[in-house]
Amino acid sequence: MFNTNSHHPVVDGLPLAALRNRKSFKWRGFPADVLPLPVAEMDFEIAKPIRDELIGMLEVSDTGYLGPIPELGTNLAAFALARWNWKVDPEQIFTATDVGVGMVEMGRTVVKPGDLIMYNTPVYHNILNWIHELKCEAFDAPLAKDGEHYTLDLSVVEAGYKKGVKAHFLCNPHNPVGTVFTKSELASLAELAKKYGVTVFSEEIHAPLVYESGAFVPFLSVSETAREVGICVTAASKSWNLAGLKCATIITAHPDQKARAEAMPMAVHYRASLFGAVAAARAYECVDWLDAALVTLDRNRKFVAEQLAEKLPTVGYRIPDCSYLAWLDLTSLNLGENPTEVLMEKGKVAFNAGIDFGPNSGQFVRLNFGTSEEIISLAIDRILAAVNSK
Ligand SMILES: Cc1ncc(COP(=O)(O)O)c(C=O)c1O
Repeated sequence: MFNTNSHHPVVDGLPLAALRNRKSFKWRGFPADVLPLPVAEMDFEIAKPIRDELIGMLEVSDTGYLGPIPELGTNLAAFALARWNWKVDPEQIFTATDVGVGMVEMGRTVVKPGDLIMYNTPVYHNILNWIHELKCEAFDAPLAKDGEHYTLDLSVVEAGYKKGVKAHFLCNPHNPVGTVFTKSELASLAELAKKYGVTVFSEEIHAPLVYESGAFVPFLSVSETAREVGICVTAASKSWNLAGLKCATIITAHPDQKARAEAMPMAVHYRASLFGAVAAARAYECVDWLDAALVTLDRNRKFVAEQLAEKLPTVGYRIPDCSYLAWLDLTSLNLGENPTEVLMEKGKVAFNAGIDFGPNSGQFVRLNFGTSEEIISLAIDRILAAVNSK
């Protein structure tokens, strides 16, 4: 388990009234009577050192363009080494506006329009949008299910690679199913990628939010082969709640992949924001805050299970191994073709619709538990109210 010593700050969900004043999409994107639990951002206060640094910059109108922020590379590398024993070369860290831009712009150095890109449903819906943005064809190698646990289906992956897949957009660890892939799965994947000439884009934005310490395996840490075929795209934005500040990082660990990153237009790097880069650099030092957030999220992931057991015992839920997203199977509630719509209309509660994550997920919703117990409990009550009003 992550470090739970008592010096941590307490990080927990803000009261609903305070959250309603937020201007972010989660709090502005829905009618005022709807309780919003989609959108992967947390209802917590950000770490004080990040806040202080940003306020300090605003106070002196340090609001210009992004230039070199060497502490981003060195702090990220120090964090990766301490957290995952992964040696990152600060010279092979490149900024991009956000993970989406990083995936697409780095993707352009590997694929051309019409190429096949693999992804693994059910998966974060924008991965498919990035494939389409690259004007490529998506090749789905759905995750295999072992009881309630999802894994990569390496035989389906290999079949796809054989058919000419050029790049694989891997969500590691996985959103929305909360799976952390093992070193042996990732090592086998790297060997397959090398055999068939596939570039693996390991999208690792949720990695700092893996609950069990040592469980997360960065793809580029797995083997020499992984470093040769792989590119990591990640950000501090999910784990320290900085998405609006706009800065992600592309990480390479091989001269050929580094050359690809350097071949991207310079604009890709400086279209990240100054605030985002400074905040990310500081975030990688805020390990106490992260571990405190994980204490609360750990409690919340179990609280979701307790609430469901008490109020909606037939709903399917596997407690995720990472992050703050609960993947709920509502099949037994018989809410019709589009459960999310029914919950919104009859329960006044919003979730991400499962269907957006893959073709067989129509009866699922994704609930964001990066919030208070009060809001989680209210959300489950509202699902119950929608069910009872049918
Ligand atoms: C797996 C995954 N990748 C990327 C993102 C978004 O990252 P960005 O806003 O940096 O594009 C999210 C946000 O929820 C996510 O869950």
